[in-house]
Formats: sequence, structure tokens, C-alpha cells
Amino acid sequence: MRRIVKSVRKVGGTISLPGDKSIAHRAALFSILSQGPITIRNFPNGADCQRSLAAAQTLGVKVDRGDNELILTPPEARAVDEGTNIDCGNSGTTVRLLAGILAGSQVEATLVGDESLSQRPMKRIIDPLTAMGAELFAENGTLPMRIRGRRLGALEYRMPVASAQVKSALLLAGMASSCSVVVREDIITRDHTEIMMQELGNGLSVKDIKAVAVADPDDPRKRRMQRPEPYKREIQLQPGAVLNGGLIDIPGDFSTAVFFMGAAAISGYSLTVANVGLNPTRTVMLDHLKAVGCSVQVNNRAVVSGEVRGDVTVTGAPLKARKISGDTTVGLIDEIPMVAVMAAFASGTTIIRDAGELRVKESDRLMAVTENLKSIGIKVGLLEDGLAIEGGKDLNGADFKSFGDHRIAMAFSIAGLFLHGSSSIDDDASVAVSCPDFYDLLGQVTQ
Ligand code: S3P
Repeated sequence: MRRIVKSVRKVGGTISLPGDKSIAHRAALFSILSQGPITIRNFPNGADCQRSLAAAQTLGVKVDRGDNELILTPPEARAVDEGTNIDCGNSGTTVRLLAGILAGSQVEATLVGDESLSQRPMKRIIDPLTAMGAELFAENGTLPMRIRGRRLGALEYRMPVASAQVKSALLLAGMASSCSVVVREDIITRDHTEIMMQELGNGLSVKDIKAVAVADPDDPRKRRMQRPEPYKREIQLQPGAVLNGGLIDIPGDFSTAVFFMGAAAISGYSLTVANVGLNPTRTVMLDHLKAVGCSVQVNNRAVVSGEVRGDVTVTGAPLKARKISGDTTVGLIDEIPMVAVMAAFASGTTIIRDAGELRVKESDRLMAVTENLKSIGIKVGLLEDGLAIEGGKDLNGADFKSFGDHRIAMAFSIAGLFLHGSSSIDDDASVAVSCPDFYDLLGQVTQ
């Protein structure tokens, strides 16, 4: 449905958000491979995570529901009926992680998805899983993807693209098949899989490759820092690794929090997001908020189920433009739509590079952001791997398109709060992928 968004006077207050989507996917899907039950607290109600839960049930996981708690009991043996199709909906994390699990299990199934997911690249998991001996069939490297699970062999893999989904698929394939997997990352991506494997089981180790001082070949009197390997992190899964089960208490979703933090940033007021996930691979947005002029405070830091969490207060200020590239872009990968909206309200030109991956998310987010920003008169340069956005002033509302993408719908709903008059989003239902209560939550902090 079309959603009307009106300009507001103030964004502020305190808010708590549903559980983190990335962590929830993993907790649900890990139950397929676990030896004992996994209890999950604060499992979110977003459509994506419900897909992972349903997929686990299709593979024989029993789900018992308590008060804000799910108990997932693994099957005696992984099995599905012949000709089973598993519908992953809009969820890239469900399809890629599940592909790893199925590839290394003795089952056969076909993974399907909605129109958007059916266009997203699967070759990035098919190639390394095939190198382990897996059988995956997907015409043109897109869904539907038929997987004939079997016992896999060891893999050593240096990631050609920075992707936590690919990394997780390989580690889960190794866990399913009890074989060794070594993954090397040039750019460190979100590490929820590694943390959860260590929290619920054993057999996984993570080594950071630190730079050391070496003699400068141009001037041996000088020393310079050099990493002994070309990659930054090595993750090693031992052949006998197991998941025993246990408790996963999920913190609030940082990537959803970003829309509320971004709103506070533009409004100039203070907003606190309580009990939100603060895994360092996810919180580059806090550095970005500071870099563009906001103040950020973190209180009540704690580690629960292996993941850092805390209360974050963001106080807005006149925003400045900034250049973003490399590791910073990867750390902001799901946050770029909100970063782009903030850029429209900043002084100067924001440049975002190394963001080519955004073209293969739930929509082509570089194109979606460009089209929507242009509709409010912002000057945008659409680059092959990024955006150049010149901040504007006194902007009027417009009719935005979500492109069926939850993060585009949320980012431009926030934009609408700061435009003259009213704006609209063509399809507000898309927010249900990660945060069905988004508009109610927004209502709690806007005046
Ligand atoms: C995710 C990894 C990222 C991210 C996605 C969730 C995950 O995707 O964009 O929203 O939970 O592993 P890529 O692995 O494709 O970068």
C-alpha cells in the first residue's frame, strides 16, 4: 500500500528494536545441524527470518514457542520428502546459508525465491561448494537451484568477494559434512557465524593477520608496517567440529536502528536505541555518524551469547559530506541507503565508492537511491561502483518508489520526515522483510 509520510518537527526519545536479522537467521538454520536444542530469545518477526525458521522445520526441526523464546529441537536425521521445494522468499541469507547446509547433507531439495531473489547471483556459492564436491544446479547461476547433498571434501578458499553469506555457506557446508574448511578474507565481513559456532559448539578458530614492522626495502634505516599475508583474517573449521546447542539471546537489529539514528542525525535531536547489537563488524555507521558531525554515546555495553550489545545515543547536528570507500563501504553495506539520504541533507558532496555489491541486493540500490534522490531535486552522479550526492536545502516532498526493497522503503520514509509537505512510499509492505512494525516504531519517536 502507498504510505503517506509527513514532515515532522522532532525525532527523539528512546526505542527498542526487534532482534538482529543476521543473528536470527543463523540461530534458526544452525538448529538443522545441531546435536542438541537451540533456545532463541528475541527472535524477530520479519518475513526473512521466518523463512529460515520454516526452512529448518522443512528439514525436520521441531519448534516450540514460549514467552519471547523459541526452542528448536534438531531432527534425528536430516531428511526431506522427494521433490521438496524450499521457498526462501526475498531472503539472500536464507538461500545462501541453507545451500551450504544442504550441499553437505545427504538430502536433495530445490531452493526457490521471489522475483528479486531469483535474479541475485548464486555462482559465488556454487563455485566454492562445487570445489568441495557438492552438486548444485542453477541455470545462469540464479534460482531455482537444485542441490543434491553429499559428503564433501576439504576446502581452502580466499574470498574473491567480501560476503558474509558466502563465508557462512562454506563453514556450514563443512560443519554438515564434518570436513575441514579454511576461509581467508581480504576484507573482514560480519562474523556472526564464527561467533555462534564458537558459542554453541567447538572446532572453529579465527586468526587475525596483524601487520608487523619490517625494514623498508627503499631505505633499510626505516621500518614500515606490513601484513605477512595478503589477507586480513583466516577462519578455520576443524574436520570434527560440532554444534552442541545452547542459548542464543539476540540483541536489537543494528541495521534497523540505523534508520532511527539517521533520522536523529538529520533532525538535530537526541535519540537512544536501547539494547542494540554492537558487533564491531556491523557498527561502522557509528563512526560515519561521528565523521559527519553527530555525537554518539554508547552505554551499558555487555556481551551476551558472544555478541556485544549496548544502548546507543545519537545526537544530530548540521551534517557534513564525506568520502567513503574500501573497508568502510563494506562495513556500511546495508546502511548505504540511509547514508545516501543523510547525504542529501548534508552540506557538500558525499562520495561513495567500492559499492558495486549494492547492485545485487534486494534491488539495485545504487539505481534506486539515485532515482529517488533525483525526484526531490538532489544532484546525484550514478557511478559504476557508487554515488556522488550533492546536499540540498529546503527540499519538497515527492512520491518515492521502494523497488520492493525494505531498506529503500525505510530510508526514503525517513527522508520524507524532513521534506516540505508530504511524501509517499509506493509499497510500505516491503518493510515487513526486516521490520514489520517499522511505522509504529517511527511513530513512537516522531512529533
Ligand atoms: C548478510 C550479509 C550481507 C548483508 C545481508 C546480510 C548476512 O550480504 O548485505 O543483508 O547475514 O550474512 P553479503 O554476504 O551478500 O554481503
